Amino acid sequence: MSIHKEIKKVTTHTLLNMKQAGEKISMLTAYDFSMASILDEAGIDVLLVGDSASNVMAGHETTLPITLDQMIYHAQSVVRAVNRALVVVDLPFGTYQGNSKEALNSAIRVMKETGAHAIKLEGGAEVEESIKRIVGAGVPVMGHLGLTPQSIYKFGTYAVRAKEEAEAALLLEHAKVLEAAGCFAIVLEKIPASLGALVAQQVRIPIIGIGAGAGVDGQVLVMHDVLGITKDFSPRFLRRYLDLHSAILNATKQYIQDVKQLDFPNNEEQY
Ligand code: KIV
Repeated sequence: MSIHKEIKKVTTHTLLNMKQAGEKISMLTAYDFSMASILDEAGIDVLLVGDSASNVMAGHETTLPITLDQMIYHAQSVVRAVNRALVVVDLPFGTYQGNSKEALNSAIRVMKETGAHAIKLEGGAEVEESIKRIVGAGVPVMGHLGLTPQSIYKFGTYAVRAKEEAEAALLLEHAKVLEAAGCFAIVLEKIPASLGALVAQQVRIPIIGIGAGAGVDGQVLVMHDVLGITKDFSPRFLRRYLDLHSAILNATKQYIQDVKQLDFPNNEEQY
């Protein structure tokens, strides 16, 4: 039997066991109670309260504007819905890069005010000290390397990262630094599949990919993309499982028509 079926509550240890047993880890983003309860009921292993909320919930072009208070609001809603999944919360831009004390304070606020199980932050050796301090305080940390959206203005493009040998070697080095600093897992975003597989082989902790190929230990996608709520975002790594955009659009048009034509409410739909 797979570990997935036996587990009542997913922990960071479960993820490590899954990697060791060769069972892939499933992870999706969630930002609100209703969606999180459906994803948890489906048996998702990890729910990420991603700072992609800045894009898909708030309509910003980048992840930079979202605040710690806003992330905490989303995380509280998700935690209330979840029985089984491990809930990980992104530390937003500007709440951990200053110094390790600031990083720890932000992580503590998330853990105290939301009831989530872990935090995620972006970067390599430059956040090593912060990771050590947060893990030292008892808070599990997930790393994030490759295309790190909080650095989009440094990259200047959302293109695939680490295609060149030097950047690939540096990414592997950073993954080892994150592992040694105490991260329980690392997200790798938009890098060549061969590099994703290499990193997954070279570290003990689970590597969860988004556009990092099939050779990593698990996959994460943004829920709005998977369900087809967003329609203009179509990177090669995305598989859409639904076209909710069309379904919601058509249902709303039908509702408007029914109201205008006095079809709704009918006799059974009133007191
Ligand atoms: O914020 C987010 O949704 C993320 C995923 C893309 C991994 O960090």
